[in-house]
Amino acid sequence: MKLLKNKIFECGTVTDGNILRVENFINHQMDIKLFNEMGKEFKERFKDTKIDKILTIETSGIGISAIVAQYFDYVPVVFARKFPSAIISENTYNYEVYSYTKKITNMVRVDKEFLKEGENVLIIDDFLANGCAAVGLINIVKQAKANPIGIGIIIEKGFQGGRKAIEDLGVKVESLAIIDHFEDGKVVFR
Ligand code: G4P
Repeated sequence: MKLLKNKIFECGTVTDGNILRVENFINHQMDIKLFNEMGKEFKERFKDTKIDKILTIETSGIGISAIVAQYFDYVPVVFARKFPSAIISENTYNYEVYSYTKKITNMVRVDKEFLKEGENVLIIDDFLANGCAAVGLINIVKQAKANPIGIGIIIEKGFQGGRKAIEDLGVKVESLAIIDHFEDGKVVFR
């Protein structure tokens, strides 16, 4: 998606450790005009299947998912919790997700009330790196006997294993920008 790639060129910075920093328009401050364009693009890419619900994971998946949902007839957005919460019930689907970036494991949880058998679920997230979060969300959708229709990602790090991990589970991946590699502190798109 050209608009997104231009924004990354203009505002993104690459830090040591192969991290693309985009907190000025995605991860901290959010560019809502851009998010709306991304919402339209996700709709275009997943227009062939009726979507009943969007599933994401806190924190950064929530903002984009809320915008995307408006292009899918205002379907509900459910976010998986990865931080302890007093208000989540005990009746949850759970999956352990390891973060390579942060070197920690989180128990990701979704209340059983909010994912139902037979629902068509679109998973949305900001980054795809190793795919641990995405695989965890697919697993949770499957625990609910719902259908993981696909995964929509804003920025995919194409040199990591995330896409393969998802496609090996038979789930379609659509990324709006795919980074092939970093070169001299700059992003090279695929
Ligand atoms: P994975 O989920 O694909 O396996 O990736 P990984 O464990 O490596 O990523 C852990 C966290 O780091 C995720 O966010 C992921 O989105 C983020 N991340 C990975 N690579 C990059 C990068 O190059 N740039 C940025 N900005 N983020 C990256 P998180 O910890 O869940 O963050 P948040 O949603 O709570 O903000």
